[in-house]
Amino acid sequence: MERLFSLSDAAGSALTRLPYVLRILLENVLRNAGDDAERSRAAILGWLDRATSEDEIPFLPSRVLMHDTTCVPALADIAGMRSALAEAGGDPSRLNPVLPVDVSVDHSLAVDFFGSSDAAARNMAREFERNRERYVFMKWASQTMRGVHVHPPGTGIMHTINLERLASVVTTTNGVVNPDTLIGTDSHTPMINGIGVLAWGVGGLEAESVMFGMPVMLRVPDVIGVRFNGRLRDGVLATDLALVVTERLRQTDLAGRFVEYVGPGVASLSAGERAVIANMAPEYGASTGYFPIDANTLRYLRATGRSDEHCALVEDYARRQALWFDADATPTYSDVIDIDLEQVGMSLAGPRRPQDRVTPAEIAKGADRHVAIAAITSCTNTSDPRLAVAAGLLAQKARARSMTVPAWVKTSFAPGSPTASRYLQRAGLLQPLSELGFDIVGYGCTTCIGNAGPLVESTRTDTPVAILSGNRNFPGRVHAQIDQSYLASPPLVVAYALAGTVDLDITRDAIADGVYLADLWPTGAEIDAALAAVDPDDVAASYDEAEQSPAWAKLHAPDSALFPWDAASTYIRRPPFASLDAPSRLGHFTAYPLLVVGDDITTDHISPAGQIPLGGDAAAYLIARGANAADLNVFSSRRGNWEVMLRGLFTNKTVRNLLDPTLQGGDTIHLPSGDVLPLWQAAERYRAANDSVVLLAGARYGTGSSRDWAAKGPALLGVRAVLATSFERIHRTNLIGMGILPLQISAPLATRERITIDAPADRLQPRAKIDVTIGDTSLTATAAVETKLEVETLRAGGILPLILRRALQHA
Ligand code: F3S
Repeated sequence: MERLFSLSDAAGSALTRLPYVLRILLENVLRNAGDDAERSRAAILGWLDRATSEDEIPFLPSRVLMHDTTCVPALADIAGMRSALAEAGGDPSRLNPVLPVDVSVDHSLAVDFFGSSDAAARNMAREFERNRERYVFMKWASQTMRGVHVHPPGTGIMHTINLERLASVVTTTNGVVNPDTLIGTDSHTPMINGIGVLAWGVGGLEAESVMFGMPVMLRVPDVIGVRFNGRLRDGVLATDLALVVTERLRQTDLAGRFVEYVGPGVASLSAGERAVIANMAPEYGASTGYFPIDANTLRYLRATGRSDEHCALVEDYARRQALWFDADATPTYSDVIDIDLEQVGMSLAGPRRPQDRVTPAEIAKGADRHVAIAAITSCTNTSDPRLAVAAGLLAQKARARSMTVPAWVKTSFAPGSPTASRYLQRAGLLQPLSELGFDIVGYGCTTCIGNAGPLVESTRTDTPVAILSGNRNFPGRVHAQIDQSYLASPPLVVAYALAGTVDLDITRDAIADGVYLADLWPTGAEIDAALAAVDPDDVAASYDEAEQSPAWAKLHAPDSALFPWDAASTYIRRPPFASLDAPSRLGHFTAYPLLVVGDDITTDHISPAGQIPLGGDAAAYLIARGANAADLNVFSSRRGNWEVMLRGLFTNKTVRNLLDPTLQGGDTIHLPSGDVLPLWQAAERYRAANDSVVLLAGARYGTGSSRDWAAKGPALLGVRAVLATSFERIHRTNLIGMGILPLQISAPLATRERITIDAPADRLQPRAKIDVTIGDTSLTATAAVETKLEVETLRAGGILPLILRRALQHA
């Protein structure tokens, strides 16, 4: 007999006043919070009366989603814990995630080949050559770690896989029916909010602790209601709306807040269109972009092959738990923003930020900016069949007029999954796309993550511009030589490729020889007709085929419970964090400031992700071990090698070390000797002399992404505490995950003097007052520690030693 926690019983008449996302959080704490359930229930209901305390609530999702660049360091940590467990006499095969972990292999695929029918196969072959070592490691993990499933290269982009295949919306766990919830180690994880699944992006360390059954802690969030009125005009697409939403919501600070879409206009959007808007949550600065469950959600589930029986379960559960969307209801929100869908028009965003929406007329500057890259790319705009079909229809009309794409444009089409090729093939739209050079180049992130591959030789050198259906366009993201990129819908990408330039008003000027955009643009009715080709069985068939990847099957990976570490590997090294001997960094201690920085230090400043620069210590390390200087790769591909990551810390040239602002990024002063050294070498000297070190920072320390290396790096440097005037939420938890004490101070400290900190393990409590002494000056800092679990983590020396000790106890 299936059971459920009755939300009506738990919340009474307050239930329908709660935003839908809080109803799901309420269900989650009732089910998982144990002793904390009543306190958490009170915190959630208290939110309605703005009576919430600063209390955090525990959220334990039902599964975890990762991709190939974030999973490697996490899986290496688990592999390291297994090695440590075995050395301590435990059974390593028993150390497994307790939640399902799905891993996509999507972020590495590059567009080396394009414009031919074999482009996808050739790119895939290069992909396996380049990444063999990392893939063997991932395959080992999926073979030996229970619960870890790696979807081989070619299966698609993680968020599309999640939408089409993994998400159940409502699930049954141990006989209890509950909402499908997840966290993902990618900021675009909220894309799944488009079909009523609550999820958001977290850092790798947070994901690791969740994998082992520890909840994500969060304050009951502000929830912003975005009310859609009216409906989109014919010819206006989900991309246009997503860019309007991003522009509008960016005008409000949404950091740490949840967004939920309501109002009569919601019903006019398909679930695929909603997913496009939900995907851009990080671009508009929110944690979520949630659409409640309704008939369109069920329509999407059926169209992607979910069974009638399952759809009935989703509907029944959602209606009984007040999770079914009621357009007339008026939940309470922290704030409400109205958007009239009728007013949305054809939009692009750029040239350097996704929130800078522009019309086609506005981007025409009369300059001579040629389209160097035209890419139908990214989870954002290739997962919605309406958008892919619209691009195909535009291509079809262009080919009917014998139009071609100029030679200087690098064209590519990388759908979110192979399902798109099946329905485009059925609709007869793959051929015209191919005739314009938009052959499928593979199923992965490609141009969206900067793997656009080389530009074509005939690219004109005067200000090359990219036009892509992605969600980000920061300078250099798409391609190192491209400073200006415009985000646009897939059919608009094809139209600009045909034009070969962005310096025309594509809505008014002829694209070529008397052909105007209006002649090519597909109508809603034409899109609907082409969508009739979508077959619900396509999803299962295409995934089954991709999962059988012969190249993946041929990859030989060991099947031992322990990973055979290779000390010579430049990609995967045994991580030093997973140790039973890890000491707590707490205590009464005196430390040197290793580094002093100012405000707004981001995780990118701390641990860069991009190209490993020649001339730096990381490059020297790799070249000394046989790496090719021309193919050093990026830091994000080397996250399984701590030696490389250590040498990259703080090397961003814009970081000013306030110990001496004339120093280059990555250098510091070893204070006892006065020597200027690379940070990692200074840290080694301090360690050799048994000297403790701390890091001093200003406001918003750790802003940006949830990058775990931004905390792992300082842990490797031996940092015991970070003293800052404020911390970004996820980075604060990552520091604690690495055993580093975050201390909040009222004013920035820029000193070369030694600092005494009184933080013994037995006296640490959430928000404890900590005595800090610098010379004759004393001050009181606050431990930026929120929960008892965080105290326990710091006492254990970090989350990995904590997991390890618990595993040993249960071995
Ligand atoms: Fe990949 Fe770009 Fe989406 S990097 S996960 S396609 S936002």
